[in-house]
Amino acid sequence: MKNFLSVHEVSAISQLVTNALAFKADPFKDATLGQRKRLGMLFLNPSMRTRISTQLAAKNLGMDAIVFNVGQDGWALEFEDEAIMSGSTVEHVKEAAPVLGKYFDILGVRTFPSLKNKTDDYSELYINQFIKYAGVPILSLESATLHPLQSLTDLITIQETFKEKRKPKIVMTWAPHVKALPQCVANSFSQWITAWGNADFVITHPEDYELDSKFTNGATITHDQDEALKDADIVYVKNWSTYQDYGKIYCNDPEWMLTNEKLALTNNAKIMHCLPVRRNVEVSDEILDGPNSMVTLQAGNRVWAAQAVLAELLKQT
Ligand code: CP
Repeated sequence: MKNFLSVHEVSAISQLVTNALAFKADPFKDATLGQRKRLGMLFLNPSMRTRISTQLAAKNLGMDAIVFNVGQDGWALEFEDEAIMSGSTVEHVKEAAPVLGKYFDILGVRTFPSLKNKTDDYSELYINQFIKYAGVPILSLESATLHPLQSLTDLITIQETFKEKRKPKIVMTWAPHVKALPQCVANSFSQWITAWGNADFVITHPEDYELDSKFTNGATITHDQDEALKDADIVYVKNWSTYQDYGKIYCNDPEWMLTNEKLALTNNAKIMHCLPVRRNVEVSDEILDGPNSMVTLQAGNRVWAAQAVLAELLKQT
Protein backbone atom coordinates (compact mmCIF):
# COMPACT_ATOMS: atom_id res chain seq x y z
CA MET A 1 0.00 0.00 0.00
CA LYS A 2 1.64 3.23 -1.24
CA ASN A 3 -0.85 5.70 0.27
CA PHE A 4 -4.15 5.21 2.16
CA LEU A 5 -6.84 7.46 0.70
CA SER A 6 -9.82 5.18 0.00
CA VAL A 7 -10.84 1.53 -0.36
CA HIS A 8 -9.08 1.50 -3.74
CA GLU A 9 -5.64 1.21 -2.10
CA VAL A 10 -6.70 -1.98 -0.30
CA SER A 11 -5.98 -5.20 -2.20
CA ALA A 12 -7.83 -7.48 0.26
CA ILE A 13 -10.42 -5.81 2.50
CA SER A 14 -11.15 -8.90 4.63
CA GLN A 15 -7.43 -9.48 5.23
CA LEU A 16 -7.01 -5.88 6.44
CA VAL A 17 -9.95 -6.38 8.84
CA THR A 18 -8.39 -9.64 10.06
CA ASN A 19 -5.07 -7.83 10.61
CA ALA A 20 -6.84 -5.12 12.61
CA LEU A 21 -8.62 -7.66 14.79
CA ALA A 22 -5.28 -9.42 15.39
CA PHE A 23 -3.93 -6.09 16.70
CA LYS A 24 -7.01 -5.77 18.90
CA ALA A 25 -6.26 -9.22 20.37
CA ASP A 26 -2.56 -8.40 20.85
CA PRO A 27 -1.78 -4.67 20.50
CA PHE A 28 1.99 -5.08 20.93
CA LYS A 29 2.58 -8.09 18.66
CA ASP A 30 4.51 -5.88 16.19
CA ALA A 31 5.89 -3.45 18.77
CA THR A 32 9.17 -2.90 16.90
CA LEU A 33 7.80 -2.67 13.33
CA GLY A 34 7.88 1.13 13.39
CA GLN A 35 10.98 1.56 15.50
CA ARG A 36 12.99 4.65 14.46
CA LYS A 37 10.17 5.70 12.10
CA ARG A 38 8.20 8.91 12.47
CA LEU A 39 4.57 9.69 11.69
CA GLY A 40 3.62 13.33 11.10
CA MET A 41 -0.06 14.15 11.58
CA LEU A 42 -1.30 17.42 10.08
CA PHE A 43 -4.73 18.67 11.06
CA LEU A 44 -6.38 21.44 9.09
CA ASN A 45 -9.54 20.78 11.16
CA PRO A 46 -10.43 19.62 14.68
CA SER A 47 -10.43 15.96 15.72
CA MET A 48 -10.57 13.84 18.85
CA ARG A 49 -10.88 10.20 17.73
CA THR A 50 -8.73 10.28 14.62
CA ARG A 51 -5.99 12.23 16.32
CA ILE A 52 -5.73 10.14 19.49
CA SER A 53 -6.42 6.68 18.02
CA THR A 54 -3.80 7.15 15.28
CA GLN A 55 -1.19 8.31 17.82
CA LEU A 56 -1.95 5.26 19.97
CA ALA A 57 -1.70 2.98 16.93
CA ALA A 58 1.70 4.44 16.01
CA LYS A 59 2.91 4.01 19.59
CA ASN A 60 1.81 0.34 19.60
CA LEU A 61 4.03 -0.19 16.54
CA GLY A 62 6.99 1.58 18.14
CA MET A 63 6.65 4.73 15.97
CA ASP A 64 6.99 8.32 17.11
CA ALA A 65 4.00 10.47 16.17
CA ILE A 66 4.00 14.26 16.07
CA VAL A 67 0.76 16.22 15.71
CA PHE A 68 0.72 19.61 14.02
CA ASN A 69 -2.47 21.72 13.96
CA VAL A 70 -1.89 23.74 10.82
CA GLY A 71 -4.55 26.38 11.52
CA GLN A 72 -3.42 27.12 15.09
CA ASP A 73 0.30 26.29 15.17
CA GLY A 74 1.57 26.94 11.68
CA TRP A 75 1.55 29.21 8.67
CA ALA A 76 -1.61 29.36 6.58
CA LEU A 77 -0.99 27.07 3.60
CA GLU A 78 -1.65 27.81 -0.07
CA PHE A 79 -2.67 24.85 -2.27
CA GLU A 80 -3.50 26.41 -5.66
CA ASP A 81 -0.87 26.12 -8.38
CA GLU A 82 0.33 29.47 -9.76
CA ALA A 83 -1.28 31.35 -6.85
CA ILE A 84 -0.20 34.96 -6.37
CA MET A 85 0.29 34.81 -2.62
CA SER A 86 -0.61 38.39 -1.74
CA GLY A 87 -3.50 37.35 0.56
CA SER A 88 -3.68 35.48 3.86
CA THR A 89 -1.74 32.34 2.90
CA VAL A 90 1.94 32.43 3.91
CA GLU A 91 3.49 29.17 2.70
CA HIS A 92 2.82 27.06 -0.40
CA VAL A 93 2.30 23.32 -0.12
CA LYS A 94 5.07 23.00 -2.74
CA GLU A 95 7.54 23.95 0.02
CA ALA A 96 5.68 22.70 3.11
CA ALA A 97 5.03 19.15 1.84
CA PRO A 98 8.61 18.26 0.82
CA VAL A 99 9.94 19.77 4.06
CA LEU A 100 7.56 17.55 6.03
CA GLY A 101 8.56 14.64 3.81
CA LYS A 102 12.13 15.12 5.05
CA TYR A 103 11.02 15.09 8.69
CA PHE A 104 8.62 12.13 8.53
CA ASP A 105 8.46 8.60 7.10
CA ILE A 106 4.65 8.72 6.79
CA LEU A 107 2.50 11.85 6.68
CA GLY A 108 -1.13 11.83 7.88
CA VAL A 109 -3.32 14.69 6.65
CA ARG A 110 -6.82 15.76 7.69
CA THR A 111 -8.65 18.25 5.52
CA PHE A 112 -12.32 19.12 5.26
CA PRO A 113 -14.35 20.31 2.26
CA SER A 114 -15.31 23.97 1.83
CA LEU A 115 -18.90 22.83 1.05
CA LYS A 116 -18.97 25.88 -1.26
CA ASN A 117 -17.30 24.61 -4.43
CA LYS A 118 -18.15 21.01 -5.32
CA THR A 119 -15.63 20.77 -8.16
CA ASP A 120 -12.76 21.88 -5.94
CA ASP A 121 -13.80 19.68 -3.01
CA TYR A 122 -14.34 16.58 -5.16
CA SER A 123 -10.97 17.10 -6.91
CA GLU A 124 -9.34 16.47 -3.47
CA LEU A 125 -6.85 19.26 -4.20
CA TYR A 126 -5.38 19.46 -0.67
CA ILE A 127 -4.55 15.79 -0.13
CA ASN A 128 -3.47 15.35 -3.76
CA GLN A 129 -0.99 18.22 -3.41
CA PHE A 130 0.55 16.44 -0.40
CA ILE A 131 0.78 13.22 -2.44
CA LYS A 132 2.43 15.13 -5.28
CA TYR A 133 5.02 17.00 -3.21
CA ALA A 134 5.70 15.15 0.10
CA GLY A 135 7.61 12.17 -1.33
CA VAL A 136 6.47 9.87 1.51
CA PRO A 137 3.33 7.72 1.95
CA ILE A 138 0.22 9.80 2.71
CA LEU A 139 -2.35 8.57 5.22
CA SER A 140 -5.79 10.18 4.93
CA LEU A 141 -7.05 11.23 8.34
CA GLU A 142 -10.23 12.35 6.46
CA SER A 143 -10.22 14.24 3.19
CA ALA A 144 -12.73 16.50 1.46
CA THR A 145 -14.87 13.58 0.27
CA LEU A 146 -13.81 10.40 2.13
CA HIS A 147 -12.93 9.10 5.61
CA PRO A 148 -11.28 5.70 4.98
CA LEU A 149 -9.94 5.07 8.51
CA GLN A 150 -13.49 5.55 9.80
CA SER A 151 -14.93 3.16 7.20
CA LEU A 152 -12.34 0.47 7.91
CA THR A 153 -13.23 0.83 11.60
CA ASP A 154 -16.92 0.47 10.73
CA LEU A 155 -16.27 -2.72 8.83
CA ILE A 156 -14.14 -4.11 11.67
CA THR A 157 -17.01 -3.41 14.08
CA ILE A 158 -19.55 -5.07 11.78
CA GLN A 159 -17.41 -8.18 11.26
CA GLU A 160 -16.63 -8.39 14.96
CA THR A 161 -20.27 -8.26 16.05
CA PHE A 162 -22.40 -9.84 13.28
CA LYS A 163 -21.85 -13.58 13.63
CA GLU A 164 -24.78 -15.08 11.71
CA LYS A 165 -24.05 -17.22 8.64
CA ARG A 166 -25.89 -14.90 6.25
CA LYS A 167 -25.37 -11.42 4.85
CA PRO A 168 -26.45 -8.66 7.27
CA LYS A 169 -28.95 -6.07 6.16
CA ILE A 170 -27.10 -2.78 6.70
CA VAL A 171 -29.05 0.48 6.48
CA MET A 172 -27.34 3.85 6.30
CA THR A 173 -29.88 6.48 7.25
CA TRP A 174 -29.60 10.24 6.92
CA ALA A 175 -30.41 12.13 10.15
CA PRO A 176 -31.13 15.80 10.87
CA HIS A 177 -28.39 18.19 12.03
CA VAL A 178 -28.03 21.87 12.88
CA LYS A 179 -25.07 22.45 10.52
CA ALA A 180 -24.25 21.63 6.92
CA LEU A 181 -21.85 18.67 7.19
CA PRO A 182 -19.58 17.00 4.59
CA GLN A 183 -20.60 13.89 2.67
CA CYS A 184 -17.26 12.20 3.57
CA VAL A 185 -18.41 9.57 6.06
CA ALA A 186 -21.49 8.63 4.04
CA ASN A 187 -19.52 8.46 0.76
CA SER A 188 -16.81 6.40 2.37
CA PHE A 189 -19.10 4.00 4.24
CA SER A 190 -21.01 3.37 0.98
CA GLN A 191 -17.76 2.85 -0.93
CA TRP A 192 -16.39 0.32 1.58
CA ILE A 193 -19.63 -1.62 2.11
CA THR A 194 -20.28 -1.99 -1.62
CA ALA A 195 -16.65 -2.97 -2.28
CA TRP A 196 -16.82 -5.52 0.56
CA GLY A 197 -19.94 -6.98 -1.08
CA ASN A 198 -21.10 -9.11 1.85
CA ALA A 199 -24.18 -7.13 2.87
CA ASP A 200 -27.66 -6.27 1.73
CA PHE A 201 -26.99 -2.51 1.72
CA VAL A 202 -29.76 0.10 1.79
CA ILE A 203 -29.35 3.89 1.91
CA THR A 204 -32.29 6.03 3.01
CA HIS A 205 -32.51 9.82 2.99
CA PRO A 206 -35.04 12.58 2.24
CA GLU A 207 -35.37 13.86 -1.33
CA ASP A 208 -32.50 16.17 -2.41
CA TYR A 209 -29.86 14.36 -0.31
CA GLU A 210 -28.70 11.99 -3.09
CA LEU A 211 -24.99 11.22 -2.82
CA ASP A 212 -22.54 10.93 -5.72
CA SER A 213 -23.53 7.68 -7.45
CA LYS A 214 -19.87 6.70 -7.91
CA PHE A 215 -19.91 5.86 -4.18
CA THR A 216 -23.43 4.42 -3.87
CA ASN A 217 -23.61 2.16 -6.95
CA GLY A 218 -24.66 -1.29 -5.73
CA ALA A 219 -26.81 0.03 -2.85
CA THR A 220 -30.61 0.15 -2.77
CA ILE A 221 -31.67 3.78 -2.27
CA THR A 222 -35.06 4.85 -0.90
CA HIS A 223 -36.70 7.97 0.56
CA ASP A 224 -38.92 5.80 2.80
CA GLN A 225 -36.97 5.47 6.06
CA ASP A 226 -39.52 3.17 7.76
CA GLU A 227 -39.47 0.78 4.79
CA ALA A 228 -35.67 0.81 4.73
CA LEU A 229 -35.38 0.04 8.44
CA LYS A 230 -37.57 -3.07 8.23
CA ASP A 231 -35.54 -6.14 9.30
CA ALA A 232 -32.26 -4.20 9.43
CA ASP A 233 -29.45 -5.89 11.39
CA ILE A 234 -27.25 -2.78 11.51
CA VAL A 235 -28.29 0.87 11.22
CA TYR A 236 -25.60 3.48 10.50
CA VAL A 237 -26.85 6.97 11.32
CA LYS A 238 -25.23 10.00 9.68
CA ASN A 239 -26.13 13.48 8.55
CA TRP A 240 -24.79 14.95 5.34
CA SER A 241 -25.52 18.13 3.39
CA THR A 242 -26.83 18.11 -0.17
CA TYR A 243 -24.52 16.94 -2.95
CA GLN A 244 -26.34 18.12 -6.12
CA ASP A 245 -27.11 21.70 -5.01
CA TYR A 246 -23.92 21.51 -3.07
CA GLY A 247 -23.47 21.95 0.68
CA LYS A 248 -27.03 22.96 1.60
CA ILE A 249 -29.54 21.91 4.25
CA TYR A 250 -32.95 21.37 2.63
CA CYS A 251 -35.41 19.24 4.58
CA ASN A 252 -34.29 18.93 8.21
CA ASP A 253 -37.32 16.95 9.37
CA PRO A 254 -36.91 15.82 13.03
CA GLU A 255 -38.95 12.72 12.09
CA TRP A 256 -35.70 11.36 10.58
CA MET A 257 -34.00 11.20 14.02
CA LEU A 258 -33.36 7.61 15.08
CA THR A 259 -35.54 6.72 18.09
CA ASN A 260 -36.69 3.54 19.83
CA GLU A 261 -39.89 3.74 17.78
CA LYS A 262 -37.78 3.44 14.61
CA LEU A 263 -35.60 0.75 16.20
CA ALA A 264 -38.74 -1.36 16.70
CA LEU A 265 -39.03 -1.68 12.89
CA THR A 266 -35.63 -3.41 12.67
CA ASN A 267 -34.33 -6.86 13.51
CA ASN A 268 -33.20 -5.51 16.91
CA ALA A 269 -30.49 -3.69 14.95
CA LYS A 270 -27.17 -2.55 16.33
CA ILE A 271 -26.73 1.20 15.93
CA MET A 272 -23.59 2.85 14.58
CA HIS A 273 -22.46 6.47 14.29
CA CYS A 274 -18.95 7.78 13.59
CA LEU A 275 -19.19 10.42 16.39
CA PRO A 276 -19.37 13.19 17.40
CA VAL A 277 -23.17 12.83 17.53
CA ARG A 278 -25.80 15.48 18.31
CA ARG A 279 -27.99 13.80 20.93
CA ASN A 280 -31.74 14.16 20.41
CA VAL A 281 -31.13 15.73 17.01
CA GLU A 282 -29.54 12.84 15.07
CA VAL A 283 -30.09 10.01 17.55
CA SER A 284 -32.23 9.94 20.72
CA ASP A 285 -30.82 9.48 24.23
CA GLU A 286 -32.73 6.22 24.59
CA ILE A 287 -30.84 4.73 21.63
CA LEU A 288 -27.39 6.05 22.58
CA ASP A 289 -27.79 4.98 26.22
CA GLY A 290 -29.44 1.67 25.29
CA PRO A 291 -28.13 -1.85 24.65
CA ASN A 292 -28.20 -1.58 20.83
CA SER A 293 -25.71 1.27 20.56
CA MET A 294 -22.25 0.29 19.29
CA VAL A 295 -20.90 3.84 19.02
CA THR A 296 -18.20 3.60 21.69
CA LEU A 297 -17.15 0.07 20.64
CA GLN A 298 -16.87 1.49 17.13
CA ALA A 299 -14.77 4.49 18.23
CA GLY A 300 -12.52 2.19 20.27
CA ASN A 301 -11.84 0.19 17.11
CA ARG A 302 -10.31 3.28 15.48
CA VAL A 303 -6.98 2.29 17.09
CA TRP A 304 -6.91 -1.13 15.39
CA ALA A 305 -7.89 0.24 11.99
CA ALA A 306 -5.10 2.81 12.17
CA GLN A 307 -2.61 0.20 13.39
CA ALA A 308 -3.43 -2.21 10.52
CA VAL A 309 -3.07 0.58 7.95
CA LEU A 310 0.17 1.98 9.44
CA ALA A 311 1.63 -1.55 9.43
CA GLU A 312 0.93 -1.72 5.67
CA LEU A 313 2.31 1.76 4.97
CA LEU A 314 5.47 1.02 6.95
CA LYS A 315 6.32 -1.60 4.30
CA GLN A 316 6.90 1.37 1.91
CA THR A 317 9.36 3.13 4.21
N1 CP B 1 -15.16 10.18 13.70
C1 CP B 1 -14.12 11.03 13.70
O1 CP B 1 -13.36 11.15 12.73
O2 CP B 1 -13.97 11.70 14.87
P1 CP B 1 -12.98 12.93 15.09
O3 CP B 1 -13.48 14.05 14.21
O4 CP B 1 -13.07 13.26 16.55
O5 CP B 1 -11.60 12.52 14.68
